[in-house]
Amino acid sequence: MTDTVSHIRPGALAGIAEGHRTEGVEKVTGAARYAYEHPVPDAVYAYPVQAPIASGIIGALDAAEALAMPGVIAVLWGGNTNPFGENFELSLFNRSEVTYRGQLVAAVVADTLENARAAAAAVHVDYTEDEHDVVLRADHPGLYRPEKVNPALPTDFGYGDVAAGLAGAARQVSVTYTTPVQHNNPMEPHAAVASWDDGVLTVYDSTQGPTADRDTIAEVLGLGPEQVRVVSPHVGGGFGSKGTTRPSAILAAIAARAVGRPVKVALTRQQMFTLTGHRTPTIQHLELGAAADGRLTAVAHDVIEHTATRTEFAEQTATCTRVMYGTPAMRTTHRLARLNVPAPSWMRAPGETPGMYALESAMDELAVELGMDPIELRIMNDPAAEPESGLTFSSRHLVACLREGAARFDWAGRDPRPGIRRQGRWLSGTGVAASTYPARRRPSKATAAAVDGGYEVRIAAADIGTGARTVLGGLAASVLGVDTARVRVLLGSSDLPDAPLAGGSMGTASWGSAVAAACEALLKDGQHGSADTTEDVAEDAGWARHSFGAQFAEVLVDPLTGEVRVPRLLGMFAAGLILNPVLARSQFIGGMTMGLSMALFEETAVDAVAGGFVRTDLAQYHIATCADVPSVEAFWIDEVDAHLWPGGGKGIGEIGITGTAAAIGNAVWHATGRRIRDLPITPAKLLG
Ligand code: MOS
Repeated sequence: MTDTVSHIRPGALAGIAEGHRTEGVEKVTGAARYAYEHPVPDAVYAYPVQAPIASGIIGALDAAEALAMPGVIAVLWGGNTNPFGENFELSLFNRSEVTYRGQLVAAVVADTLENARAAAAAVHVDYTEDEHDVVLRADHPGLYRPEKVNPALPTDFGYGDVAAGLAGAARQVSVTYTTPVQHNNPMEPHAAVASWDDGVLTVYDSTQGPTADRDTIAEVLGLGPEQVRVVSPHVGGGFGSKGTTRPSAILAAIAARAVGRPVKVALTRQQMFTLTGHRTPTIQHLELGAAADGRLTAVAHDVIEHTATRTEFAEQTATCTRVMYGTPAMRTTHRLARLNVPAPSWMRAPGETPGMYALESAMDELAVELGMDPIELRIMNDPAAEPESGLTFSSRHLVACLREGAARFDWAGRDPRPGIRRQGRWLSGTGVAASTYPARRRPSKATAAAVDGGYEVRIAAADIGTGARTVLGGLAASVLGVDTARVRVLLGSSDLPDAPLAGGSMGTASWGSAVAAACEALLKDGQHGSADTTEDVAEDAGWARHSFGAQFAEVLVDPLTGEVRVPRLLGMFAAGLILNPVLARSQFIGGMTMGLSMALFEETAVDAVAGGFVRTDLAQYHIATCADVPSVEAFWIDEVDAHLWPGGGKGIGEIGITGTAAAIGNAVWHATGRRIRDLPITPAKLLG
């Protein structure tokens, strides 16, 4: 454990824990407004026209039929829209080529959403179609080495002699795991409402970060940031897809400018599968070697993934391996194929989610080869310092998570032999895997003021359903030494002090640093305090900062149908000081549920013939439901880490999903003796 926190009163932190969600009543009564619900007088509706081909050139567009339909006000496309911006994804209509099926090529503006949608089907566009290439393969001829992986990490990293380490190993595994395209699917679909007033654009957007969204919209449209306002008081989830500006916001803005009226855009669930990002598929080759006692002699993690033809997004799939286990030799690489797909992007724990699936599955396979308990194998290889950097961990309690989780899950005495336990007709098994996610923060501003006998905190943070408002209010109350009821938090608008995204599990540390500092300044001044943590954050260095966890799964597999059930998931996490246990538990079990969903269900099918994603709705893209998750338990160990920010926490939005799929896959092996190395683990694969 590290130092305790100086300026946050421990008693007040308990107060954060007991407070209900600040905007809970607004949400359950329907008073909380999401992007599309903001009432804007005289609004009209824009509906996208999407390319039905995956590769080609856009030719003539015939809008006559659409323009003659009821309520239609305009058809916008490249022929009547002045080019703007240089962002291939967002400079709508400013391109002659189609690079993926579903690319936005035009839009209809009409008096109702229904009229716009009907007319969009009557816009006729000629295309010259080229061959498309949408399937990721390990032997893809176009594989290349990107300059860096997300966000700016080394593409390749390694040391030592991996070949010698493998050759000298008593036991080794050499296996390939694959994961499919997945889609974020936040509960609130992407939507935007735009209006222009005296040259100032207001966008009610569904975004994970009003400051960044404002800056991107301004840049793409060639405006100054002072000419754009983004308002987003309530956001119904994002999982990363709302971390970057989407075509919905730009379409609303340019359509509103074109017709001189406010415009509403609501993407359909189907449109979101092409217009709002996805998780890249991966092909991951793992080679692990170990001495007879279990000590690793070499670790290699080589990743193949896809990106778009014109926009590079290089996911950091193997970077978790640079953190996890001590080894005398390591190799981690990433290679990309440019395919005719929309640009992949962030989806909850980009990199760590597929990467930890593969690493933690391979560790389980190695434990089987060694005849060793998989928990003991991980503990034996727990490193004293971060393998990649040699830096000391600010805190690392993976071993404690494994031991404490094992005790709660009743792991002791587990018979390691696969395929021998029955519960009625079901085969049963248990599995374990580790979790990790980086702990980071970004510069943020905030102000605090004494207002009307209470206090008002202002920050352009985003509450995407996580409880950011509640936690920041509790934190401010703790620093000010007042009851939480006396603190009002204003967030979700770019009019407020600039703040970073709700992303990368960085929200609470980034915003909390600024809010705490602003409240401290207020205590000195009595009336007003402001803070900018840019300099503090610039000094963050010298420690390896990550959250850790251990996840345990029990599965039942029907040997006749291949159905997999997960009666129990248990996670034990070490994520620094937990500020609000109620909200934190929700983040952990939400992440674990999404990991279960990844393990068993989630897959966006790629249609090699038509050249696009198919099964693009929630009837066919299966997400875990309540019946799929009868028992998900999350616990955490008592950890305070003051090396990231004074609040002592490390971020909890993403750690919960990393490792879950491996724990379930490992349990499926224990139940059945079948190692399914291709997610999701479907009945067809288990019976095949
Ligand atoms: Mo999250 S994928 O870092 O928005």
